[in-house]
Amino acid sequence: MAEQQSTAFPEGFLWGGAIAANQVEGAFTDGGKGLSIQDVMPHGIQTPPTVGPTADNLKQEGIDFYHRYAEDIALFAEMGFTVFRFSIAWSRIFPNGDETEPNEEGLAFYDRVLDELEKYGIEPMVTMSHYETPLHLAREYGGWRNRKLVGFFERYARTILQRYAGRVRYWLTFNEINSILHEPFLSGGIEARPEEIGDQVLYQAIHHEMVASALATRIAHEIDPDNRVGCMILAVPRYPLTPDPRDVRRAQWETQRDLIFADIHTRGEYPHSALRYFRDNGITIDFADGDAQLLREHTVDFVSFSYYMSACATADPEKQNPGEGNIIGGVPNPLLPRSEWGWQIDPLGLRIIMNTFWDRWNKPLFIVENGLGAKDVLIDAPDGGRTVADDYRITYLNDHLYQVGEAIRDGVEVWGYTTWGPIDLVSAATAQMSKRYGFIYVDRGDDGGGTLERYKKASFDWYADVIATNGASLRGDTPK
Ligand code: BG6
Repeated sequence: MAEQQSTAFPEGFLWGGAIAANQVEGAFTDGGKGLSIQDVMPHGIQTPPTVGPTADNLKQEGIDFYHRYAEDIALFAEMGFTVFRFSIAWSRIFPNGDETEPNEEGLAFYDRVLDELEKYGIEPMVTMSHYETPLHLAREYGGWRNRKLVGFFERYARTILQRYAGRVRYWLTFNEINSILHEPFLSGGIEARPEEIGDQVLYQAIHHEMVASALATRIAHEIDPDNRVGCMILAVPRYPLTPDPRDVRRAQWETQRDLIFADIHTRGEYPHSALRYFRDNGITIDFADGDAQLLREHTVDFVSFSYYMSACATADPEKQNPGEGNIIGGVPNPLLPRSEWGWQIDPLGLRIIMNTFWDRWNKPLFIVENGLGAKDVLIDAPDGGRTVADDYRITYLNDHLYQVGEAIRDGVEVWGYTTWGPIDLVSAATAQMSKRYGFIYVDRGDDGGGTLERYKKASFDWYADVIATNGASLRGDTPK
């Protein structure tokens, strides 16, 4: 294995981790918080939503970040984080989503989080909407299928942009916005499967989110021209399952279907691939007056994305396969290993997708999620405490980060990297605690038991070293 002696990462590259409110905070009704769609998803995307909250929802307590944020941020600082991505729970600020005045207690909570980050000089990055639509907006208005959500979101976005002006510079509008194609409830508060509502409703809802995102971008830039707003997409590179041109075309279309979202965010208009799809499928997007101009004039400053895996595409109906566990699906690649949850591990795919994105949009990139969900075993540590020997996580992250360095050497501009779940949290797709991503172990089980104590895993010191050396400690080899 060829060793890398110098770092590819530019000075000032931002290193850190990412979480979402609903997966960590708990305190689901404290401080005047309203319910969000997560409160009726006790088993993630695996079963249909329940009527109301149920006692078996691990997110009700999460990892108690609501009360332990100071302790957790101190640990992130100890690793040397220079950026920390978190989401604001919309229903802490507007409990039902349609109020005219925000909930001061909710706003004050995030002030306290920002105080801690400032104490350590950690740059905050805020996701405005991370699978957390207020439940009332989903149940009373039909979620993002209803244009009224644009106005509610605009008010929410303006409120937090004004409140945290000068304190938060990096903003993301909608988490993994393309996931709405597969999970309309999780991603868009629309309580139905995609096939039940059909493409007309789905793409109109997407248009509403696009308009809302452009409005938030406009407001962010009006409030502070130094604000940097990014879109956020779920990146799953699609490889043709075989060299059959029909598989290649299928992979190309599945890629285009996901990239439409960032195309609109970066270019300000729908791409040709979307227009053809709309024509062929009788879809007519209702543009309100001013929508086209808004999209055109308020494009994003950067493109952020999550990357966990790649997948294959095939034109052969016999070989179609929804994939295992992940939101977006895809045909498994026969050449790649998989995680315990069936997610295929493909570090080189990250370099490939980064080149694709940079070539396509020429906007700076930010990797805002990447990591390995795995079962960890807590063992005794030499210092008398407890730890996890998570060499598998170190290997996964090392190999992916090495490819980020390679993409930078290819000429791709990248602002930063945040691992998903630097501290164990409740999984989005399966609502399990046992699917752990963290450098920090949280003592809580799938049955909700445990002390919530935090323990450093072996990967904690490893990541601290990566950050301290600005990536020079990464090891890998480069395929020609
Ligand atoms: C992304 C989400 O889909 O992947 C996160 O933005 C999520 O919220 C992460 O937690 C990992 O997925 P999971 O299902 O393993 O939690």
